[in-house]
Amino acid sequence: MDITYDVSSKCWILQMEASTYCIGLSEDSSSLQHIYWGPRIASEAASEMAHASVPLIVPFESPTGVSREEYAPWGEMRFSEPSLKVEYADGTRTIEWVFEEHGVERSGAGQTLWLRFRDQAYPLRVTLYYRIYDGHDVIERWVRLENSGGGGPVTIEQALSADWQLPRRERYRLTYLYGQHMKEMQVAEVVLGPGKAVLESRRGMTSHQFNPWVALDPEASATEESGEVWSAALAWSGSWKIVVETTPYGEVHCVGGLNDFDFRYQLAEGEQLDLPAFVGLYSNKGFGGISRGWHAYEREHVIPEALDAVRPILYNSWEATMFAVTERSQMELAEKAAKLGAEIFVLDDGWFGARNSQYAGLGDWTVNPQKFPHGLNPLIARVNELGMRFGLWVEPEMVNPDSDLYRAHPDWVYHFRHRSRTEGRHQLVLNLAREDVRDWMFATLNGLLSEHNIEFIKWDMNRSICEPGWPDEVGQNPERVSLDHVRNLYWVIDELRRQHPNVEFESCAGGGGRIDLGVLSRVEQVWTSDNTDAFDRLRIQEGFSYAYVPRVMMCWVTDCPNFSTSRTVSLRYRFHVAMAGSLGVGGDLSHWTPQELEEARGFIETYKRVRPIIQNGLLYRLRSPRVGSVAASQYVAQDGSEVVVFAWGHSQQFGQTPVSLLLHGLEEEAHYADAINGATYSGAYLAHRGLPMNLVGDFDSRIVHLIRTPSAQ
Ligand code: GLA
Repeated sequence: MDITYDVSSKCWILQMEASTYCIGLSEDSSSLQHIYWGPRIASEAASEMAHASVPLIVPFESPTGVSREEYAPWGEMRFSEPSLKVEYADGTRTIEWVFEEHGVERSGAGQTLWLRFRDQAYPLRVTLYYRIYDGHDVIERWVRLENSGGGGPVTIEQALSADWQLPRRERYRLTYLYGQHMKEMQVAEVVLGPGKAVLESRRGMTSHQFNPWVALDPEASATEESGEVWSAALAWSGSWKIVVETTPYGEVHCVGGLNDFDFRYQLAEGEQLDLPAFVGLYSNKGFGGISRGWHAYEREHVIPEALDAVRPILYNSWEATMFAVTERSQMELAEKAAKLGAEIFVLDDGWFGARNSQYAGLGDWTVNPQKFPHGLNPLIARVNELGMRFGLWVEPEMVNPDSDLYRAHPDWVYHFRHRSRTEGRHQLVLNLAREDVRDWMFATLNGLLSEHNIEFIKWDMNRSICEPGWPDEVGQNPERVSLDHVRNLYWVIDELRRQHPNVEFESCAGGGGRIDLGVLSRVEQVWTSDNTDAFDRLRIQEGFSYAYVPRVMMCWVTDCPNFSTSRTVSLRYRFHVAMAGSLGVGGDLSHWTPQELEEARGFIETYKRVRPIIQNGLLYRLRSPRVGSVAASQYVAQDGSEVVVFAWGHSQQFGQTPVSLLLHGLEEEAHYADAINGATYSGAYLAHRGLPMNLVGDFDSRIVHLIRTPSAQ
């Protein structure tokens, strides 16, 4: 990994593990041009490209307007999606900037290139950052905007984090993740023609509807394990936008960052604003290669946990008791969960205020005395005695109108004067952009964590933000709340983590509504979906795995018939699906038979043996649940010594067809033994003939654990 500046061609070359990125200044230093992003090439070849690059000449257009800019300030003859648009105090609304200086900084395993531009006539400085890491192919790009003073405020109307220019190829396919509550992370794809594909959230949160992650491959040529793929993901948990634009001249670029819809940010004199990172990644090993690239980066440089840490087995009582939690019911569940092998016990919604249903209590974060007459400490003590850590559910950004908090502070929620306060799940959203709300939130949670031995927080957010008004601030730039909400949310979590380093966090938003690289840098795991139907989960988990590492993907085994689909599948199938990520149990254990409890204990024991491979290994998606009747995934330990394979059969049709799964990432010469039945196969056999899988009937499943045998001397 190295970043160099080539003086002769005025270009910067970023050499990464298996890829190269190159950018260069235009002749007059007034724009930053994209030169190259693709497989690793010699630096000389990159500078040759920079020397040889000639501007595109299109009649009736300016050369700059149709050039491949790394970051396009609005102005000149630019008509495609710009990266930055501002208004200066005197009404000027275009930017004309010039390059000022650059530098390269090294820190730990990373190197950061920064390039500073300034407006030629106004007090705006823009610094573009590019950070790369040893052993990775990701490029973190972000931007710092600075009002250098002397000209009044600078109003930012659109400020995206990066513009990724793709190589000139034909017809890119865009792959992305869409969904809704109970149906997160569905994989969609579309072949792009001229025009724009816009993915976004205007909801003040990451959203279930679209996840801020995209992958692009030319001519739909990539497969699961081969072909070139360019991918990008945004580190932001508020309203966002990614625009993939194919210009009439055949250029494809992908620009993303904060959503500019209903947004304005006044940058005061002397003020700086750092935009969230929009991270890019290239692989020539297909979608599998892209996913493994993202997973490795998240493990090493995003999630706040050691590279090889494993997530504990979690029990959560939500589906078992819903709002009807009591000290007794939770203690009984805790006893059973501990016997199964759970390591964290999480008390979900219903423990506080007058929270007996969705209609009341949010905002009143004091323990409900009817349900817990002696507070939470007796339950926590029992959970600890049983050898488990205690976790608690909170939803701090929300308030029910029927709550003491709302009665005391009706002005603390987002609202416009003379307008409705539209409720979602009977709740309103606290205006976290307010300093007093932020301080209240921190003090409340800090109190809970200080008074109890809580070691895990499930942080929920069960509705989108709408009507984001702040009447008292009219004239004081309340149009910036969508940014400030998230900044203050991050601040509260960061500060709680700093003061309570033993506490782990899970991000939840009505299931998987807040999953992105921004929140992942401050939580150990996420709640994937409220949909716990094992069959539906296969698709949700597949989409999830495109962008995010299985270690953070919390998966519970719950009861059948499933509450959302009424489907009944075996306990084994449910476990096998949930074991593909970070395993949890969420069923009502008081109704499980002794046989079921015993069976579950066995699965958890198996999972504990293989979880380092699943959570921290290399994932190969062997068969998609979207195609055919068998889905399968393979995980290979980082050192190649162990392999776990899951196969999930959907429905048996037309007699029995034996399945052979062609495995990846093995040494052909080595031998691998099945840890359960001792059968041994060579790597070559497994790669080319395949691992036999005998799935019978509907919703059958298998797990196979292979261990590389010591080579014969
Ligand atoms: C959301 C979460 C669930 C549960 C409920 C509690 O829906 O996704 O897991 O915590 O809230 O109200």
